[in-house]
Amino acid sequence: MEFPSYIQHPKLRSWIAEMVALCEPDHVHFCDGSQEEYDQLCELLIQKGTFRKLNDTLRPNSYLALSDPTDVARVEDRTFICTPNKMDAGPTNNWVHPDEMHRTLNRLFNGCMRGRTMYVIPFSMGPLGSHISYIGVELSDSAYVAVNMRIMTRMGRAVYDVLNGDGAFVPCIHSVGMPLEPGQEDVPWPCNHEHKYIVHFPIERSIWSYGSGYGGNALLGKKCFALRIASAIARDEGWLAEHMALIGVESPEGEKTYVAAAFPSACGKTNFAMLVPPKEMEGWKVTTVGDDIAWIKIGEDGRLYAINPEAGFFGVAPGTNTKSNPNAMATISKNTIFTNVAMTPEGDVWWEGMTEEPPAELIDWQGQPWTPGSGRKAAHPNARFTAPASQCPSIDPEWENPAGVPISAFIFGGRRSKVTPLVFQTFNWIYGVYMAATMGSEQTAAAAGSKIGEVRRDPFAMLPFVGYHMGSYFNHWLRFGRLLPEPPRIFVVNWFRRDDEGHFLWPGFGQNMRVLRWIVDRANTRAAGTEVGIGRVPRYKDLDWRGMEDFTEEQFDEVMDIDPEAWKQEILSHEELFVRLWERLPSEMVSVRELLLSSMWREPNWDISHRTE
Ligand code: OXD
Ligand code: MN
Repeated sequence: MEFPSYIQHPKLRSWIAEMVALCEPDHVHFCDGSQEEYDQLCELLIQKGTFRKLNDTLRPNSYLALSDPTDVARVEDRTFICTPNKMDAGPTNNWVHPDEMHRTLNRLFNGCMRGRTMYVIPFSMGPLGSHISYIGVELSDSAYVAVNMRIMTRMGRAVYDVLNGDGAFVPCIHSVGMPLEPGQEDVPWPCNHEHKYIVHFPIERSIWSYGSGYGGNALLGKKCFALRIASAIARDEGWLAEHMALIGVESPEGEKTYVAAAFPSACGKTNFAMLVPPKEMEGWKVTTVGDDIAWIKIGEDGRLYAINPEAGFFGVAPGTNTKSNPNAMATISKNTIFTNVAMTPEGDVWWEGMTEEPPAELIDWQGQPWTPGSGRKAAHPNARFTAPASQCPSIDPEWENPAGVPISAFIFGGRRSKVTPLVFQTFNWIYGVYMAATMGSEQTAAAAGSKIGEVRRDPFAMLPFVGYHMGSYFNHWLRFGRLLPEPPRIFVVNWFRRDDEGHFLWPGFGQNMRVLRWIVDRANTRAAGTEVGIGRVPRYKDLDWRGMEDFTEEQFDEVMDIDPEAWKQEILSHEELFVRLWERLPSEMVSVRELLLSSMWREPNWDISHRTE
């Protein structure tokens, strides 16, 4: 096995050699991460029918990939955390004993790359050389993965310089699971229809992925490494790997405050990360550090510092338009890979919600002719764009600062048509952890085992992404808070409250800036508010209403309403999660639950007139 001279790392060499012997690729390509290599691989993908080049005037240097119709999303039911003890993976993860899983994987990977090229993809999660960053190496038989990894991570030869002799790296092996027999013709989107395995070994710190070429199943730096494996590393090393957007908020006076915000999938996290404030809130500015993942460490000054470990956005396309997210639209204007969107006759892209009027004709995400009367979606609901973060007009000047940005507040928000008010600040770190732990979100697309509209508990928006026992994860957050001299404040938001007729009570999008301003002012200990049973809330007069004066105090009261009876039911329903996590549930969860219940209680029969002096 021939290695380029710049790969001297003994462990890396022996692991690659071992994987080549197991997978038996026809060729091995060592990715250097250059633009020339990217262009060549894109050309190859065009020849193979995976990519179509988009119109170079309308969408310069951009491509469209249409996946196999069965390989369109992350496969949570095929995602495994393999720890020697089942209890260490916890009841929210699929578990198989590592020995048994290794046997299964060795069988599946044996010869799985025959007829294909293995790409060796070195990448850094986080700025190269940052003390918060980590290195991974992905071996994949998909050129689509290689080009996406170049956008989503810092990928290329410079990574080997950081690895420096014998530095640590996370080995990530990926195969689409479709070896080619001699003479067998390839398909545009190879995958395995029978077997899919997305497997994490938190103790070995390795990732094995088989059978899917799509998104988080295949771009292993993202959910697999930066969340599942990293959350286990973070627990051991005392930091946080979170499913959070990172944004900067700048006041008219130029004061900058960074916040980290966790929202479950399908709650507009990317829109929030790229929020454009209403023009009447003159001088307020929002900048983007990251839209999906944050790695957070304690700095020498006792404050929290966060980096975005990614270098690109892998965003959901449908619903994105110049009103909902003009920054995202500008980001994807060039150098972008689109997957499973529709194509216009001019060779540009389209998806539901991109324009008010759909084009008269399109090629849909399955490559079929489409018209507005077709009765089916032109783009797949989980269609994606892969675009460099550096192209985002709102990108924060500090987004690549290896030291990270200081975090002043955490925001947690689910999709709840009732119960949760527009915003509140939790009383303290422990209450905040409780609220984040019990966060729920109504399902917009039926995930396995849930119905549309049903509230799915999604603690910290990490349900599918924690690499260990969820109860231990809560405890990690509690312990972490105890290390901080001044823990950031924790807020809860809900942009999705509705009235009894189902109308949204809050306009959302850019108007969320009004809530964000209150949060930032609270975090900087200025804005007022008042205390209620669940925390501190703004009063009508505490928010900035410039440009939104037609939103009345009554409307505000409705979107902020806290109904004790509904909250009692809500708090009771937390019990289901707690019982599930019982073996590792921190006792604080139970204590806070009792305190919350007591604050919802109203004494109906207390007649002061009976009091005797
Ligand atoms: C994502 C998700 O793809 O959270 O980012 O599902
Ligand atoms: Mn996500």
